[in-house]
Amino acid sequence: MRVVIGGIDGYIGWALALHLISRGHSVIGVDNFITRRRVEEVGSWSATPILDMYERLKVVEELTGQRIDFVEGDLTDYAVVRGVFNKYKPDAFVHLGEQRSAPYSMIDVHHAVETQVSNITSSLNIVYAMKDVSPHTHLVKMGTMGEYGTPNIDIPEGFFEVEYNGRRDYLPFPRMAGSWYHWSKVHDSGNMMFANKIWGLTITDVMQGVVYGTRTDEIVDERLHTRFDFDEVWGTALNRFCVETVLGLPMTVYGRGGQTRGFISLTDSVQCLRIAIENPPDKSEYRVLNQFDEAYSVIELAKKVYEVAKRKGLEPAIANVPNPRVEAEQHYYNPIHEKLKKLGYKRTRMLEDELSIILDDLVKYKERLEAKREVIFPRTDWRRPRNPLR
Ligand SMILES: NC(=O)c1ccc[n+]([C@@H]2O[C@H](COP(=O)([O-])OP(=O)(O)OC[C@H]3O[C@@H](n4cnc5c(N)ncnc54)[C@H](O)[C@@H]3O)[C@@H](O)[C@H]2O)c1
Repeated sequence: MRVVIGGIDGYIGWALALHLISRGHSVIGVDNFITRRRVEEVGSWSATPILDMYERLKVVEELTGQRIDFVEGDLTDYAVVRGVFNKYKPDAFVHLGEQRSAPYSMIDVHHAVETQVSNITSSLNIVYAMKDVSPHTHLVKMGTMGEYGTPNIDIPEGFFEVEYNGRRDYLPFPRMAGSWYHWSKVHDSGNMMFANKIWGLTITDVMQGVVYGTRTDEIVDERLHTRFDFDEVWGTALNRFCVETVLGLPMTVYGRGGQTRGFISLTDSVQCLRIAIENPPDKSEYRVLNQFDEAYSVIELAKKVYEVAKRKGLEPAIANVPNPRVEAEQHYYNPIHEKLKKLGYKRTRMLEDELSIILDDLVKYKERLEAKREVIFPRTDWRRPRNPLR
């Protein structure tokens, strides 16, 4: 199949591109490298050194003999998006090219606005371009499990049967996101559902759990590394805990650490995306997939890192620090995730094994982590945004 990846330079996008070409798909990537610039803006960098895109593409050609076409461009620019659809008329477009950090969106009013405007604009551009020049394309749109929040009932895959005042309907499950970033994804989902309704576009909306890992089956050469962020703005809790442990710092668990989320390895995330691409929904269907393997609380994650690090001779420690976020620290969490399994998905990676690989990779790049140790501790406070006028 011919697949365009919007956001190919990113953590998931690069790993997905390598995985798809290894399975015989032809890949075209689009990116404007904004994640690199935004991470620099907060004084950080990827723990794994990553080549620039043009060098990356040369290495891929050298190692696999395959070519990935690349368009440097901004998905918030309609002319760029329409040009890509016009030129490539892809079977699938995977949209990963959005601002993806919750803390970044919470810094101040400008970061909130930038997040929502750019995320919602890029998705609208894509559905308009599909309608105008490539209506057969299947859009795989990356959302997040964070759209649902943490309701006190089970979370279905997108829709659920509901009875109210004696009448029944099949409705979108309520979304209760926890940051401006997560709300941008909720607004995207509403827009994708509506684009499907008015134009009959075929769309898979992926509710992605937190992704972890430094490697996939295809990332076998240091020059093929994907990015791995660890600072307080861009790093997930798991990434921060691994880096803190390698640096001999205590793992900074926010609050009581009962916050529970769904997780999946990078290898299995790209496997799921390939399965979604190879098995599109019925033409003109809007499909929602919950994409994660297992739920862990933040304190459980810290304990897993502790056990694996201890076995490696590191000296891990856990500390509870005041929670800069506004979120429930103890709650019920039981999302359903069956549709991908029905399409043939089987988990291939366990958290402990991946943690061991992550720690080994990070030890190799300890100097890069040392250089940025001051950006790990939380500074972005949900309750007290930065004053943009100061
Ligand atoms: N990584 C996770 O754990 C996770 C979890 C849930 C959802 N997601 C979602 O998955 C997607 C990919 O996440 P990621 O971790 O790979 O993020 P990332 O920031 O590493 O990658 C996104 C890529 O898109 C590019 N990009 C962003 N805006 C763009 C624009 N307007 N035009 C062109 N390129 C643009 C960035 O430069 C970057 O290379 C995001 O939508 C994110 O919200 C990620």
